[in-house]
Amino acid sequence: MKVTIIGAGNVASHLAPALERAGYIINEVYARRIDEAERISQNLYSANTSDNLDFSGSDSVLFLIAVSDYAIEQIAGEIVLPDQCLIVHTSGSIPMSVLELTASDSIGVLYPLQTFSRNRKISFPEIPILTEANTPEGLAMLEQVGKSLSKRVALVDSEKRLQLHLAAVFVNNFVNHMLTIGDEITSENNLDFSLLEPLIRETVDKAIEIGASDSQTGPAIREDHSTMEMHMELLEENESYQRLYKIISKSIIDSKNL
Ligand SMILES: NC(=O)c1ccc[n+]([C@@H]2O[C@H](COP(=O)([O-])OP(=O)(O)OC[C@H]3O[C@@H](n4cnc5c(N)ncnc54)[C@H](OP(=O)(O)O)[C@@H]3O)[C@@H](O)[C@H]2O)c1
Repeated sequence: MKVTIIGAGNVASHLAPALERAGYIINEVYARRIDEAERISQNLYSANTSDNLDFSGSDSVLFLIAVSDYAIEQIAGEIVLPDQCLIVHTSGSIPMSVLELTASDSIGVLYPLQTFSRNRKISFPEIPILTEANTPEGLAMLEQVGKSLSKRVALVDSEKRLQLHLAAVFVNNFVNHMLTIGDEITSENNLDFSLLEPLIRETVDKAIEIGASDSQTGPAIREDHSTMEMHMELLEENESYQRLYKIISKSIIDSKNL
């Protein structure tokens, strides 16, 4: 099966070679800057590169849009497709219906639920692939593609996918922001961030094993106000972190009464 990849960012950089390893032919890679498309294609067997969205002459059967969320609608409005192809995007938050702007009758979503950074290796078989399509044939094709990449493929509609994406923002983006603040506090005080590594790993392992809510420890859940006051004094120079500390501590205390 021939596949065209639209985009050359974090997801495209991982998805294109992963699809090739799974036996698909990456036919074309599009990026608005041709050197970016070439950066992806140089790791592929025989992909053509393009900075033009006219694919009327293409023999690909699957078109995968992996561009920034805000650009999906624009690409959908501009792309010229061959007859009889399936076009999908890879976003967690954008509804499938945005692809109704394309001329294709067959649209869908293939959302890999993982955080991707271009230069970081990732194990595809462990990544849940969430699919959605507007036809049974399209869904069957996406299931086949998903199963060739991953051990876990699930059908999730746009509404549920957005809920999952919201949860993902909390467990990934917000947690990562907390780690960044921890890193800042240690380095500003000439402390070694790696001292926190076992704690970071155990936090995640324990939450997965016994549940995050049952895993909570620390001054907020104990309502230890004198320790929280000391921390607030340490953050005196940084009003924004003080606000964050207060909001999260209050949310932890409130969660006891849910
Ligand atoms: N990264 C993740 O962890 C992750 C995980 C799951 C799903 N996703 C989804 O996958 C999609 C791609 O994300 P990403 O992280 O790969 O993004 P990214 O690394 O920021 O790359 C975005 C790509 O979109 C292109 N682009 C932006 N605006 C464009 C426009 N107006 N016309 C044409 N191309 C445009 C960029 O081109 P330039 O280089 O020219 O700007 C770049 O190739 C998004 O829908 C995202 O929600 C991401």
